[in-house]
Amino acid sequence: MIHNEMIDTLLNRKSIRKYTRQMPTDEQIETLARVAQQAPFAAQMCSLLLKKGGTGMPFRAPLLFTVCFDLHKLERIMEKRNWPTKSCDLSLLLFGLQDAVLMAENLVIAAESLGMGSCFIGSAPYQAKTIIKKYNLPKRVFPIVQLTVGFPAEDPPPRPRYPLDYFLFTDSYPEFTDEMIDRAMSVMDDGYLAQDYYRKAKYMVPLEDGREETFTYDTYGWTEHMGRKWGQWTPSPKQLLAALKSCGFDLMNNNKS
Ligand SMILES: Cc1cc2nc3c(=O)[nH]c(=O)nc-3n(C[C@H](O)[C@H](O)[C@H](O)COP(=O)(O)O)c2cc1C
Repeated sequence: MIHNEMIDTLLNRKSIRKYTRQMPTDEQIETLARVAQQAPFAAQMCSLLLKKGGTGMPFRAPLLFTVCFDLHKLERIMEKRNWPTKSCDLSLLLFGLQDAVLMAENLVIAAESLGMGSCFIGSAPYQAKTIIKKYNLPKRVFPIVQLTVGFPAEDPPPRPRYPLDYFLFTDSYPEFTDEMIDRAMSVMDDGYLAQDYYRKAKYMVPLEDGREETFTYDTYGWTEHMGRKWGQWTPSPKQLLAALKSCGFDLMNNNKS
């Protein structure tokens, strides 16, 4: 494997959930935003909201960015060119999500290069109403994900990933054997257990529906965690569609303009 400064920075990145109280300078913040903007884009269908310091910051981070899917800005420009939006909102959302997350990852990498750390927080779409009010968002803007940023007060190890043969499929997608799946599972589980990840986080997803607990922090690994999260958590599509609709997005129909 090749190593250089950038590759090693990327391989060494990990989510940071403890921060020092040091506030990044305005120049550092502006640099993060400029690098974020320079990510590849389909149509710059994204915006960054920023909250600096104060109470209620997740992980007591000095900076909280909210990454938004943003059609408002583009449509204001299209109006001036006399173009109503014909593309459907679902298509625009899929492209806009890509613009938003590529932009956010650029910010993550820029932060690393300036000695800062970061952690995404995925609850934004479910708190859309609060975020819209707080930041005075116009229609056609929807919060996708939040990102805490600051100087790290912890230095955890990089977290495990699937083995490459469970991730990179050249020419055609393989039919997985039990052995491949088991190996991928043990790479993830053994890796997280070796780091004592869930014991240190003091967190196992609670079981619902009267299922009996058979795991301890000695056995609870990443694959059980994923199963419990995505196998029990049931946000309603109606709730998300309604949240999007209240922001002026209709994913089920053609655009009326
Ligand atoms: C879309 C998204 C949402 C996330 N939401 C949360 C979150 O709500 N809380 C949290 O502590 N970490 C969150 N994370 C961070 C992941 O837990 C973390 O990236 C993953 O466990 C891999 O660890 P690493 O980033 O240290 O490599 C999120 C990451 C992404 C990409």
